[in-house]
Amino acid sequence: MQRVNIASQLLVHVCFLVLGINVSITKGVSPDMQNRFSLLYFEANYTVAEQACHALGFDGLAILSNPEEYNYVHKLSTVIREDLNRGMWLALKYDDMLARPMWDDGTVPAPDMPWKGNAINKPCGRFQRAGFVGMLPCDKLRYAVCGNHHGKTLDEAEGSINWTAAPTNVTSSLIESRVESYLQCALLCGSENLCRAAHFNQITMSCKILGPGSFSDFQSDPDSTTFVRRSFKESDVPL
Ligand SMILES: *[C@@H]1O[C@H](CO)[C@@H](O)[C@H](O)[C@H]1NC(C)=O
Ligand SMILES: *[C@@H]1O[C@H](CO)[C@@H](O)[C@H](O)[C@H]1NC(C)=O
Ligand SMILES: *[C@@H]1O[C@H](CO)[C@@H](O)[C@H](O)[C@H]1NC(C)=O
Repeated sequence: MQRVNIASQLLVHVCFLVLGINVSITKGVSPDMQNRFSLLYFEANYTVAEQACHALGFDGLAILSNPEEYNYVHKLSTVIREDLNRGMWLALKYDDMLARPMWDDGTVPAPDMPWKGNAINKPCGRFQRAGFVGMLPCDKLRYAVCGNHHGKTLDEAEGSINWTAAPTNVTSSLIESRVESYLQCALLCGSENLCRAAHFNQITMSCKILGPGSFSDFQSDPDSTTFVRRSFKESDVPL
């Protein structure tokens, strides 16, 4: 009985999956993102949603490791969040040993990801309709975001170039490397989920990849060019 039930939900969903992809093409997103994420347009508990993602050929529920992935899913899910007024399961589970939510691939959620602070020790994670991530009991019924987890490195981070500017009050850097150009430094930012700024100094030809909270602002510096990554989208609906 149970199987039949799930299968019929999946049949309904496959039609929506195709629609979902068409919608994202019109938004002009990279093909990479389109193949990686898809929405489940029915309510289910965490376990059933995860099984449905597997049945559709995805690695599981979605992991949002960086601002580009988060912002893509934020945009893709606008109808579910704002019109249908529903949240969506993500591949996020509370780890009792580590006493923190963790993504299914064993990585820690980015510290600057918009989070709804309360009740983070509930077992299952979802994207809320207000655009935050938060935890819930796994038996609740929600829509879901499926994702592919393998081979998922971005080629490029989204952001802006700040010419002749350097980050101020830098406390640490994730990567320090000699590079041949500013471009190489900016590309290095795209290969690191936690990169929030990439500081290139053209005198020393050095590139510093800075993580969330490791610098406070920017100041004028004629020898520097800094790539400033676009941040996680702020919530657009009040709590
Ligand atoms: C999820 O739903 C399925 C099907 O209704 C049920 O068998 C299962 O016990 C539920 N799991 C949780 C954690 O609620
Ligand atoms: C940066 O550091 C300077 C001096 O070290 C301090 O005066 C300033 O307030 C800091 N800026 C910020 C935004 O924290
Ligand atoms: C660029 O750097 C200047 C300082 O040179 C700073 O005032 C400005 O806020 C920076 N812009 C961005 C987008 O970070």
